[in-house]
Amino acid sequence: MTLLMFSLTLMTIISAANSCPPSDQAALMAFKAALSEPYLGIFQSWSGTDCCNKWYGVSCDPTTGRVVDINLRGESEDPIIAKAGRCGYMKGWISPEICNLESLTTLILADWKGVSGELPSCLTSLSSLRILDLTGNQISGKIPDKIGSLQKLTVLNLADNTIKGEIPAGIVDIGGLKHLDLTNNQLSGEIPSNFGKLGMLSRALLGRNQLTGTIPESICGMKRLADLDLSMNRISGPIPSSIGKMRVLSTLNLDSNLISGEIPPALLSSGMGILNLSRNALEGNIPDVFGGDSYFMALDLSYNNLKGPVPGSLSAAKFIGHLDISHNHLCGAIPLGSPFDHLEASSFASNDCLCGNPLSTC
Ligand SMILES: *[C@@H]1O[C@H](CO)[C@@H](O)[C@H](O)[C@H]1NC(C)=O
Repeated sequence: MTLLMFSLTLMTIISAANSCPPSDQAALMAFKAALSEPYLGIFQSWSGTDCCNKWYGVSCDPTTGRVVDINLRGESEDPIIAKAGRCGYMKGWISPEICNLESLTTLILADWKGVSGELPSCLTSLSSLRILDLTGNQISGKIPDKIGSLQKLTVLNLADNTIKGEIPAGIVDIGGLKHLDLTNNQLSGEIPSNFGKLGMLSRALLGRNQLTGTIPESICGMKRLADLDLSMNRISGPIPSSIGKMRVLSTLNLDSNLISGEIPPALLSSGMGILNLSRNALEGNIPDVFGGDSYFMALDLSYNNLKGPVPGSLSAAKFIGHLDISHNHLCGAIPLGSPFDHLEASSFASNDCLCGNPLSTC
């Protein structure tokens, strides 16, 4: 017992002695100096030499005393932000000196709206980094080519910034990546054709960019992908037919692109959740393949060039919440029964010659 107490005391002394090496303290001071946060004063706590002791948003490894986490969110449940009754605002840029924090595993500087400047390319040398979240700022520049050297990265969130250039080919080397969110930037070029190599990825959110090219076939082999969003880009070509065989895929947003060809039948017969193919150039009939596995909270096929009838098998679907097949070239009588009895006329509007409830009688 006394021995335990003794060793605990000793450990406390050692870790206190190890806390915040001067190089980590200097890196944090440089990081702070490049940023300005005028409303909450979060950086006021960043003073003195022990950066492991009550510096807001900073955490250290208790054994090594090195800085491991920087967690600064402008929109959070944190009392400091709740108390201020406003969301955070910060301007400035990310100092490359942050790259001296060799043990950093988490870098979150999210939703501050005004942090600008380029993404420091030296970030790719932070080989322990697991979470990089810089969402909701005005960060520009490119995603570094060497992003693939961040071998421990599980979350890469750069959404809602002004990042340009291509998605670097090396991104597919981040073997453990689970969440990739690049939504609402200015990315151009094609999605790497071997994107499917990201075997652990469960969310791939690439919407609202200027991506071109086709949907890589390799995506269909991604066993854990649950959420794929490529909406509002300039993606063309067909939907790969085996995309409907992806077992865990439950949200697929391909709306507002230049996608052509026919709807792969397996997409409608399998369990989906949300499928948005609106505002593309899809043609052919809506496959008449709905059945007991078809479960759609939302199914939006509006604004395409679909023709033929409303498939009768829709009434065999397990569930259809929201359906929109408006603005196509469909023709014929709307089938009777569920789900047609709870849908509104707007779901069927602007087609060539649809009729029957909820539209006018045939
Ligand atoms: C599908 O995408 C379109 C266009 O991007 C959007 O207007 C529509 O609200 C989306 N549908 C659903 C059900 O979210």
